[in-house]
Parts: sequence; structure tokens; C-alpha cells
Amino acid sequence: MSNNLLQGKKGIIFGALDENSIAWKVALEAHAHGATFTLTNAPIALRMGAINQLAEKCNASVIPADATSTDELEQLFTQSMEVLDGKIDFVLHSIGMSPNVRKKKEYGDLNYDWFLKTLDISAISFHKVMQTAEKLDAMNEWGSILALTYIAAQRNFPDYSDMAQAKAALESIARSYGYRYGKLKKVRVNTISQSPTMTTAGAGITGFDVFFDYANKMSPLGNASAEDCANYCVMMFSDLTKMVTMQNLMHDGGFSNSGITEEIIEQMNK
Ligand SMILES: NC(=O)c1ccc[n+]([C@@H]2O[C@H](COP(=O)([O-])OP(=O)(O)OC[C@H]3O[C@@H](n4cnc5c(N)ncnc54)[C@H](O)[C@@H]3O)[C@@H](O)[C@H]2O)c1
Repeated sequence: MSNNLLQGKKGIIFGALDENSIAWKVALEAHAHGATFTLTNAPIALRMGAINQLAEKCNASVIPADATSTDELEQLFTQSMEVLDGKIDFVLHSIGMSPNVRKKKEYGDLNYDWFLKTLDISAISFHKVMQTAEKLDAMNEWGSILALTYIAAQRNFPDYSDMAQAKAALESIARSYGYRYGKLKKVRVNTISQSPTMTTAGAGITGFDVFFDYANKMSPLGNASAEDCANYCVMMFSDLTKMVTMQNLMHDGGFSNSGITEEIIEQMNK
């Protein structure tokens, strides 16, 4: 069902790797709501080729960019404005990667070069995206910029490792840049803190199935799906949320405010 909430809006969507990716679902939903946008991912991820199927469905151009490279981000914004014939109304940063998590390094035995990579890819890239957009004056007034985050920024989840620090930094960048961009151009900047979701990045966390199941049982509404997240993103890109900025928005079926639930008590009593 579509209400054309994004009719006439132009965007850039980072991070659609395959059809499980949250960004993939956001692209489909944004398209259904009348948006036009470019799709982007790191060149190495594009080589897998799946994104071209999405591009076809959404009538979108694919522009490669490593989100840690300001040169490539500059090209991305410049080309996007050409292809879309105007400035940008919305940006989705749906990027996360930790070499330490991927290579199953213990938290007490982190590789610090990799730690820096985790921070660069998963958090500082968000600042780079916004700084690039600002320098190129690429955003329209009342534009909306979103990044996806996880509650491990506030609470400890052991296997999330150095990604927890990256998410804390990401959310902090949203507040600091949200202030700046709001003053400068009335652009709003927020993070959405999403339930565990079955994707490539999600499944990379050790014991993800248990993680997923626990969160599902701890949430009165159950886990929010990638499709639910896509709907929330569309609303955040729309003019219905013009005054929301500098927020970390919990999208988790109630997980973050639950102490214990009947389902968990039942399981503990078994
Ligand atoms: N899956 C979950 O459980 C979950 C929960 C909360 C938040 N999130 C967040 O949602 C976002 C999207 O993740 P996902 O779960 O859809 O997984 P995903 O693996 O489909 O997406 C991660 C994306 O990051 C991209 N990426 C990695 N390095 C990059 C770089 N240098 N430049 C540009 N892109 C790069 C990957 O190519 C991939 O497309 C991430 O920020 C993730 O942390 C995921």
C-alpha cells in the first residue's frame, strides 16, 4: 500500500547488499511512495551484483562509493544531483562492519587497526557523508538524514564487541551534526535503533539466533522486521516528521523499556 509520502523527493540510499538488507527494503518502500534515488555501496559489495536487480525494480542508478573515502563521497553526491536533477531530500546511512567481529576476535584481544576500521566504516563515515553534503550544499532545506543503529550503544551485549563503541559514536554524531545542519539548512538528522534483524551484518554476530529470539521474547510487540524499519524510514523522510531531529529513535517492539516479560519467565521456569 502506498500513500505517496515521498512524491517528488530525491534521495541517496547506502547499504543495500542483498534482498535481506534493511536498505534493500527501504529502497523498495521509498520507491513505492514515489521517491527517486540513487543506490550506493562499497565497490567490493557491488561486485556481487545483486544491487542491479534492486536498481531495475526502483528505476535507480547505482553509484559506487566507499563511505570512508571523502573523494568517493564527493563524486557520489555530485553524480546523484546530476542523475536526479536537483538537490537531495533524504539520505539513508545503512552501513556497519567490524573486522574484529567478522574475524571473531575476543573483546580482550582486539586488533586496534581493525578497531579503527570499525569506527571509520560504521560511525565516522556518517560524519563524512554529512560533511561532504554540507560542503557541496547538496541538501534541500527540510531534508532528512538517517542512520541505523543498535541498542548495544547504551547497554552491553558481549558479542557485539567494538561495534558497540561504533554505534555510540554514530548516535553522538547524529546529535552533533543534527544541531549544526538544523541551524544551517533546517536539515534533520536522526538514528533509528532497530531490533535484531536477519541480514548479512546481523548474522555475523556470534549467537545471533539466540540474540534474535531473546529480543523477540523481551518485546511486547515482538521484533521489528526489516519491512517495519523501511516503513519507519519512509515516515522519517516524509514531511510528517519535519520537527524531529537529533534523536535516537527506538524501533524495537518495546524491547528497550521492558524489564522482563511473561515469555522470558516461562522460559526460565522450564
Ligand atoms: N541486522 C541487525 O540485526 C541490525 C540491528 C540494528 C541495526 N542494524 C544496522 O543496520 C545497518 C544495515 O545493516 P544490515 O543489517 O541491513 O546488514 P547488511 O550487511 O545487509 O548491510 C551492511 C552494509 O554495509 C555496507 N558497507 C560495509 N562497508 C562499507 C563501506 N566501506 N562503504 C560503504 N558501504 C559499506 C555493506 O556492503 C552492506 O551493504 C547497519 O548499520 C547495522 O549495524 C542492523
